[in-house]
Amino acid sequence: MNNPENRAVLECRSLTKVFAEGPEKLEVLRGIDLLVSPSERVAIVGTSGSGKTTLLQLLAGLDHPSSGEVILCGHQLMKVSEQQGELRNRHLGFVYQFHHLLPEFTALENVAMPLLLRKEVSVGQASMRAEEMLGIVGLSKRASHKPAELSGGERQRVAIARALVGSPDLVLMDEPTGNLDPHTASKIHELMKSLSEQLTTSFIVVTHDMVFARQMDRALRLEDGHLVPVV
Ligand SMILES: Nc1ncnc2c1ncn2[C@@H]1O[C@H](COP(=O)(O)OP(=O)(O)OP(=O)(O)O)[C@@H](O)[C@H]1O
Ligand SMILES: [Mg+2]
Repeated sequence: MNNPENRAVLECRSLTKVFAEGPEKLEVLRGIDLLVSPSERVAIVGTSGSGKTTLLQLLAGLDHPSSGEVILCGHQLMKVSEQQGELRNRHLGFVYQFHHLLPEFTALENVAMPLLLRKEVSVGQASMRAEEMLGIVGLSKRASHKPAELSGGERQRVAIARALVGSPDLVLMDEPTGNLDPHTASKIHELMKSLSEQLTTSFIVVTHDMVFARQMDRALRLEDGHLVPVV
């Protein structure tokens, strides 16, 4: 495991985000404190526009906060900007609302990509791991298909396999089932739940599905720029 000391996988303190591009300042996040432990599964719910995507982007180091800090596996995200790509690749998996798979590559190549970027394993080993991951998400028979040749649910499963292939410490998911029909969405929720039970990975999942949210270790609601427990 990448995080042997059992310390918090993710910690953020007094995180704020103000958008000031328009005529008015928009305070989206007004002081977010969050501590995620190894293996912990956290759901984040909130109305459209409440700042869920903004928060995940800050936690992933894909955007800068207006103030506050994010510490990922002991590394302060802001202080390592030149190594952020490397840090993200090693510790984080990200599943976007829309899969963001590379259209010109096959499912297998898409899943293998995070390992190839690390340059620590051979192409053959990366392919083997990617094949294994595709098997786990039930897509062994689709390995050579390109994203355009897959259904919406299959693409999201490929995106989940890609996020998990490098055994990251934390996987961030932004409404990974938001554009799927309820039946496929619930199958993917079951898959995420069983994967999170098998692995020691921590998960932060933005979702609108309250049933799924309540199955996580913790469910939080983003409301007026603050995270509050869902009761
Ligand atoms: N780059 C930006 N510049 C200005 N305002 C922005 C920017 N990005 C987001 N916002 C605003 O910040 C607020 C939060 O947006 P965000 O995308 O985080 O919401 P969300 O909770 O993910 O919503 P949804 O459930 O619809 O995905 C919105 O009001 C949005 O218009
Ligand atoms: Mg969003």
